[in-house]
Amino acid sequence: SEILHAPSYPWEHLGLLSSYDCAALRRGFQVYRQVCATCHSIQRVHYRELVGVTHSTAELVAMASEVDVMDGPNDEGEMFERPGKLSDPLPSPYQNEAQGRLANGGALPPDLSLMVKARHAGQDYLFSLLTGYCDPPAGKEMLPGLYYNPYFPGGAIAMPPPLNDDGIEYEDGTPATISQQARDVVQFLNW
Ligand code: HEM
Repeated sequence: SEILHAPSYPWEHLGLLSSYDCAALRRGFQVYRQVCATCHSIQRVHYRELVGVTHSTAELVAMASEVDVMDGPNDEGEMFERPGKLSDPLPSPYQNEAQGRLANGGALPPDLSLMVKARHAGQDYLFSLLTGYCDPPAGKEMLPGLYYNPYFPGGAIAMPPPLNDDGIEYEDGTPATISQQARDVVQFLNW
């Protein structure tokens, strides 16, 4: 078949005695926030869990407080909005599944919290998927709203190619190639 299997990459954090690279995780979180978060939630992650991993407490308190969070009911039985805090999960792009599908031509961007662990070949698959978009083979018709990606089962995915060279500017000055962003976001999602 024309479906490709992801090769096996030498991920540093799989090695004996190695640990996660905080600079890579910080960059990966930046990719998630600036690119993936437009469409995907990562609901199992709370700001407080990122303290000392990607950012300092003060930075995460500031980041959380930029989000309006629905809370309540209060003593009067009413819901209310308040600034986000460290104990909140990262915000979701859509209110519910129907809204998520509506915005994506019927397809649902899955929550990314457990994505790497859930898929066969986890991080190799995800890296290959993110870097694997290309023109369809001659004669293969693509339906509107579907993109050719030989790593996706069936080859036609409803996710437009999310990464571009220099699509973001890394805070630490690392050149933001597609493969660098893919590598960093995969490490972040696997952490
Ligand atoms: C699906 C990751 C950005 C829309 C997926 C899947 C993953 C993923 C792992 C599941 C693939 C599978 O089922 O095997 C990411 C990452 C992103 C990103 C890491 C950022 C770098 C985006 C953006 C959009 C989007 C910006 C919207 C414009 C979708 C949709 C699906 C999907 C609609 C469902 C595809 C289908 O079922 O055909 N994404 N994504 N993603 N993503 Fe993304």
